[in-house]
Amino acid sequence: MAKISSIEGRILYNSRGSKTVEVDVESDGKFLGRVCAPSGASVGKYEAVSFPNGKPEESLRILKENSQKFIGLESSDLKGIHDTLKSLDSSSNYSKIGGALAFAVTIASTESASKAAGQQLFQTLSSDTSFRFPFPIGNILGGGAHAGPGTPDIQEILICATGSKTIEDSIETNLSVHRELRRVLEKEDPNFTNGRGDEGGWAPKLENQRALELSAKACENLGFTLGKEVSLGVDFASSTQWNEEKGKYVYDRAGFENSTGEQIDFAADIIEKFKLVYAEDAVHEEAFEDMAELTTKFPDILVTGDDLIVTNKDILTKAINSKSCNAAILKVNQAGSLYDALEFANVANQNNIRLITSHRSGESTDSQISHIGLATKSKMLKVGVVGGERVAKLNELLRLSEHDLICGMAEI
Ligand code: PGA
Ligand code: ZN
Repeated sequence: MAKISSIEGRILYNSRGSKTVEVDVESDGKFLGRVCAPSGASVGKYEAVSFPNGKPEESLRILKENSQKFIGLESSDLKGIHDTLKSLDSSSNYSKIGGALAFAVTIASTESASKAAGQQLFQTLSSDTSFRFPFPIGNILGGGAHAGPGTPDIQEILICATGSKTIEDSIETNLSVHRELRRVLEKEDPNFTNGRGDEGGWAPKLENQRALELSAKACENLGFTLGKEVSLGVDFASSTQWNEEKGKYVYDRAGFENSTGEQIDFAADIIEKFKLVYAEDAVHEEAFEDMAELTTKFPDILVTGDDLIVTNKDILTKAINSKSCNAAILKVNQAGSLYDALEFANVANQNNIRLITSHRSGESTDSQISHIGLATKSKMLKVGVVGGERVAKLNELLRLSEHDLICGMAEI
């Protein structure tokens, strides 16, 4: 077993141009694990804090002061490394050291361990002997917190090639829909600038329904039937619209407001009309009962909690007890450490909650989450369709398709 011989961090930038931390963990002086932390824009109330007082420099200072505590630990001892981080920060949300640091230290250590063992990262993360590819699901049209005025209030319209039999075909199909949607948008508005939001989805001046109609049209133009070769998904990211004082969802851009009941109907109409396979955060992050209503109504689609669950196993347990969702987003940095995230994945898998391992809107060009998606038996991998930091994750899946232990696509 390899032992950590050095641990160091540096400041880098994420895809949004914001400062973040990268951590190098070396074992036995030669096996380097290197991880750069992502960060979100539509951040859940209860997720891990990225940096203490918003300062990545502070996370690095703490790492430097305490680096000796990690030296000599086995790089594969995820629990030991997690416990060492927790000894520096006993808060529930990593407010003292920053969840980004916990993310980078734990994944970099595990990557270093996998190199020392001569394995792929997904093998170090799971003792399974066979794996299936999660279906890539990616943003084709964006608004909300990821794009500017005039774009839809809905944060993300997503494509997933649910009929694909191979990872190559699923990636190619998603790309073709993204490409065709540009043509459709240009036809709709000759002045469309081809502008894109933070995750690579097109960012046109359109209201919600029209954006969905044109996304469906792009699929149909390619000869696809919704719900067959391809399916649409939506991340409503409804906490962005939720106005606590009014007790209503305020759709600023489209110019209407929804009561709680109207919001459920609004989401249900979209799910039915566009035959969605996937509906994320259709109600706000504390509306467990309203989510339960949608989960009961749509048992066959992935009714997914992101801001609702924030990759927190205790909140997931609450959601399971109230039957609030049948699927959950796994974002390691929402939880903080990889250890926290894998514990969360265990709870989900033991309770038939389907996992979707996800990127953040502010990403690095790393691709460890593709391995995390495989190892956690995720049904989908939500990593976007285009953009260097998104394609990096998809390209890693293509490399992994050469591996004998992975065969076929997950069953959604
Ligand atoms: P975020 O968005 O990374 O900005 O939180 C992604 C999402 O809401 O799924
Ligand atoms: Zn989301």
